[in-house]
Amino acid sequence: MIYPIVVYGSPILRKKALEVSQDHPNLKKIVDDMFETMERSDGIGLAAPQVGKSVRIFVIDASALSDEHPELEGFRKAFINPHIIEHSEELVNYNEGCLSLPTIREDVQRPSSIKIQYVDENFNSIEETYEGVIARIIQHEYDHLDGILLIDHLNPLKRKMLEGKLKAISKGKVEVAYKIKTAV
Ligand code: CO
Repeated sequence: MIYPIVVYGSPILRKKALEVSQDHPNLKKIVDDMFETMERSDGIGLAAPQVGKSVRIFVIDASALSDEHPELEGFRKAFINPHIIEHSEELVNYNEGCLSLPTIREDVQRPSSIKIQYVDENFNSIEETYEGVIARIIQHEYDHLDGILLIDHLNPLKRKMLEGKLKAISKGKVEVAYKIKTAV
C-alpha cells in the first residue's frame, strides 16, 4: 500500500515518535509499505511520521545514488528503534532534500560519521558504523523520529528566506510527483 506523504505544517512531523514493540500490529507490512511508498516518491529515505505513523522506524534505499557511489548499490534497510550512540567531532556540509519539504534543498552541517544501534524487521539487534552519504541519510531520518526537520539546522536568516515556500507547502500549494497530505 502506498501512503500519501505528510508535508510540512502537519503536527505529526513535530512529535517525538514512540518505540515499537516486537508484537506491534502489522510491523512487517508497515515496513514493506514504507519501502513501497518511498520508491514511488523516488525517495532515498523515509521515516514513519512522514506516512502518518508516530513510531520509531525509518527505511533507506540508497541504490539510486549508486552511479556516483558504487558502494551503495543494493543498500536497502529498515531501522527500527534506532539510537545514534556516537558521532564524529568532524562536521561536513551536504545538500539535503526531504519528501515532506518538496521544493526545498539546503546545505546542512552534520557529523561525518555515526555509530547506530537498532533492530531489523525480525528484531535482531544490530550495531553499525557509517560514514559518507549513508551517515547523512541516517541522521536526517533519525531527526524525523524526534520531530526535527532539516530546516531546523539552518541559520535564522536562511530559515526566514524559506517562509514563503514553507507556507505554500503547508497549504499543499506545491507541484509534486507523489501524493501529499497536509495537516495530520
Ligand atoms: Co526528510
